[in-house]
Amino acid sequence: MKSLAIKTFEEYQERYAQSVADPSAFWGEIAETFQWEKSWDKVLEWNFQEPKVQWFKGGQLNITTNALDRHLEHNANKIAFYWEPNDPSTEARSYTYAQLHTAVCRFANALKVKGIKKGDRICIYMPMIPELAIAVLACARIGAVHSVVFAGFSANALADRIVDAEATMVITSDGLNRGAKSMALKEIVDEAITTCPSITNVIVYNCLGWECNMVSGRDSWWHDAIAHQPEHCTPELMDVEDPLFILYTSGSTGKPKGVVHTCGGYMVYTAYTFQNVYQYEADDIYWCTADIGWITGHSYIVYGPLLSGATSVLFEGIPTYPYAGRFWQIVEKYKVTQFLTAPTAIRSLMAHGTEHLKPYDLSSLKILGTVGEPINEEAWQWYYKEVGKEQCAIVDNWWQTETGGIMISGIGTLSPLKPTFAGYPLPGIQPVLLNQEGREIEEPNVEGYLCIKAPWPSILRTTYGDHERCRVTYFSHYDGYYFTGDGAKRDENGMYRIIGRIDDVINVSGHRFGTAEIENAINANEHVIESAVVGYPHPVKGQSIYAFVVGEELPEDELAARHSIVETVSKEIGKIAVPEKIMFVTGLPKTRSGKIMRRILRKVAEGETGSLGDTSTLLDPGIVDEIILKSNTI
Ligand code: WTA
Repeated sequence: MKSLAIKTFEEYQERYAQSVADPSAFWGEIAETFQWEKSWDKVLEWNFQEPKVQWFKGGQLNITTNALDRHLEHNANKIAFYWEPNDPSTEARSYTYAQLHTAVCRFANALKVKGIKKGDRICIYMPMIPELAIAVLACARIGAVHSVVFAGFSANALADRIVDAEATMVITSDGLNRGAKSMALKEIVDEAITTCPSITNVIVYNCLGWECNMVSGRDSWWHDAIAHQPEHCTPELMDVEDPLFILYTSGSTGKPKGVVHTCGGYMVYTAYTFQNVYQYEADDIYWCTADIGWITGHSYIVYGPLLSGATSVLFEGIPTYPYAGRFWQIVEKYKVTQFLTAPTAIRSLMAHGTEHLKPYDLSSLKILGTVGEPINEEAWQWYYKEVGKEQCAIVDNWWQTETGGIMISGIGTLSPLKPTFAGYPLPGIQPVLLNQEGREIEEPNVEGYLCIKAPWPSILRTTYGDHERCRVTYFSHYDGYYFTGDGAKRDENGMYRIIGRIDDVINVSGHRFGTAEIENAINANEHVIESAVVGYPHPVKGQSIYAFVVGEELPEDELAARHSIVETVSKEIGKIAVPEKIMFVTGLPKTRSGKIMRRILRKVAEGETGSLGDTSTLLDPGIVDEIILKSNTI
């Protein structure tokens, strides 16, 4: 297999220039290195008005042929995944490409027996075990559209996603272990699907040996489903623009939306970016600590690495269980060469000091990646010095669920390092900074709204079931641009620093939540009339959630009231979205037109009550005094 990696920084600059001058020639050449059943008629056709973007139009392929079958001739016995369990005393597992291919084919055949066909939506709600990757790939094998839901979301959140996608099947497990905690996933699925009439099948992987309530005619065990299934499954012939998956993500309004990615462009871009950003070489061992339930796991645990024939580590657990050195022990065990994690994990390990690093040999590491939220200088330096021993490149990957792959980043060890700057646009990516009037800012060292000027192969194609929402959310703010929702700064050398969201999205430990989404959850509590939620800086999580809550009256027992709201949010979304701080108030600061002045609430949450600015347009300025007074007691 031909490597797609650029080898020098000068080459990056040349390739970047080519990619902008002639995107079709640039991407056409890269796409040719993949296996197509039918070649494309036209590389690119697009407009950002509808929007409609088509890459490699007319092409036909199956992504799993490229991720699995393609490697069987020369690399059948190469390890695709080393699986490291949550608990180090559980036996580790591994899959060669041949074994993974067989497992995917057998499960794909099992899905077919259950009546699943091309275009059907399948919801996957599983722990970080090899079967999660196998389920994802089996869907892709037969052309079913996977919708993975992170196994930390509640039954209600799971049900919302199943209903929106009209999924017919859920694939889950009896339960999961994550750190010292466990969750009964099948019970959560059972609760969720009481409100999901579209579900006719549930497949349950027996992960922990727990007993489950199995509904006859609907539920079956994974091991029964694959028994007697043949080891070969002809890949479904997919049009290049057929949907590959839906992944739900939060925005500033309404319920989470189902971002849709398609087969061909996503394949080309995830493989290209993986090989370049991580400069993957044949004997390397790559490890991304994300969960497959998020986009990072889709693109840089499953598809990008497998399309590149890489060997990866798949880890079930969390950074600090059963001890703070767990990550480093795994790096040493597998001699990991490229390591990718989130700033929140780095900060939480940093808080444990450096003792936990000492027992382990980390000299195999070459490249350290960070993704999901802005990384602060202190965490960057700790990562660089303590983990990388000043010998590794740090690559800060900026991108989004909607972009499908890394957009701005360092390129392996090739590009210059600059702490807290994500780096340069990857070839094919044309970022711009816009001012408030929507004009492009050319000067260096100014901040602006980060937008993208032209399509790249893995740009989202739509939001499931509601194309207009896709247009309004991403393509209507500034005519002719994809709007990211992030603010950024560009230095005199063209390097980008991502400042953070400029919309009502809060990024907690790298997980996105819309303020409206959390407010809706809080408002579901029977004692709540209305609420307003803002994000505020948190030393480990990056941002944390502060909720201002109005009930019929102020609660007599605030502790109990807080507990009740935490319960409600856990039920509506999941524990991951629970507010860290809750203030009960008699009203919210609103303008005369009824708009909540979040600016004021944000200042209060940040502890800056001395600089609230102009409050004269408020309907009831007295509310602000009440909030300030109370803020000292939260
Ligand atoms: C933020 C995760 C700064 C950003 C891949 C973006 C980042 C949102 C970075 C997307 C980074 C992601 N530096 N901010 N390296 N990576 N973000 O969809 O605000 O879960 O818009 O995708 O996370 O989050 P998502």
